[in-house]
Amino acid sequence: MSFPTHRPRRLRQSPAVRRLVRETHLVPAQLVLPAFVREGLTERVPIGSMPGVVQHSLDSLRRAAADVAASGIGGIMLFGVPAVRDAIGSGADDPEGILNVATRAVVAEVGDALVVQTDLCLDEFTDHGHCGVLGAGGSVDNDATLERYGAMAIAQAEAGSHLLGLSGMMDGQVAHVRAALDDAGHTGTILLAYAAKYAGAFYGPFREAVDSQLTGDRRTYQLDPANAREGVREAVADVDEGADIVMVKPAMPYLDVLADVRAAVDVPVWAYQVSGEYAMVEAAAAHGWIDRRGAILESLVGIRRAGADAVLTYWAAEAAAWL
Ligand code: PBG
Repeated sequence: MSFPTHRPRRLRQSPAVRRLVRETHLVPAQLVLPAFVREGLTERVPIGSMPGVVQHSLDSLRRAAADVAASGIGGIMLFGVPAVRDAIGSGADDPEGILNVATRAVVAEVGDALVVQTDLCLDEFTDHGHCGVLGAGGSVDNDATLERYGAMAIAQAEAGSHLLGLSGMMDGQVAHVRAALDDAGHTGTILLAYAAKYAGAFYGPFREAVDSQLTGDRRTYQLDPANAREGVREAVADVDEGADIVMVKPAMPYLDVLADVRAAVDVPVWAYQVSGEYAMVEAAAAHGWIDRRGAILESLVGIRRAGADAVLTYWAAEAAAWL
């Protein structure tokens, strides 16, 4: 009788051994919670396509921020839903705009217990729902949009945001925003570049969450889902422009891109587990078709294993409590 000489199962024999040889760990500090705040609400409102996620009022957001700070997660990423929109997204850089008001409130509430982060994009604030301002032909005007991003960045930094999430996918946005911030004296504001953000179907529930006005798509500025090398090129370019952190988004359909980006840059790499990824697991779990907690933790550890140093996830607070 011949026996195998190589026995990988030795290292799987007990929880203690498995824990000791585990390659990837998930800790609350690596999780960031995206949160929505809607102007004019007096109470939080559930988002139908994202069971368990709400549009916050200012007050409920402040309370939620205090709660999640106690859970030990790393940060909170704020998205504002304004009551009024216009062609250039004026609410974005108005100090009294909802996102800036909410940022001041959250920073006052949690101080440094969380890294308070803000989405830097115009799509929530424009009446056409695009991430920038439109040019004569109706397409997004890159360089005119950069001017708006610069103003928005200064407003967010002045509101106290620690980290700006550049999610608009305009060319040159990192360099432009960095220069605008530095000129205004905000040299300490961290820039997270959504370097490889893919155009696709997984953002559907988010668009309900922010009452998106978009009718077309974002394929002229977000990446083609078929392109991995292009995602790496974007990440490298963003680091060259001064990005402190780069992001791949969505997460699970793009784990190969995440691994490639991790290998190509030496700054922190984050991933955004987006609304569609969230909704799929919640819907399957609601039917009893999947083990909810198991699927959530496996998805997060998979994203970490592929190369993400931190993950934006709507399950941040809940998952932190399990870890
Ligand atoms: C754009 C933005 C999007 C998301 C966050 N910021 C995507 C989009 O509408 O193209 C999606 C997040 C999610 O789906 O959870 N500012």
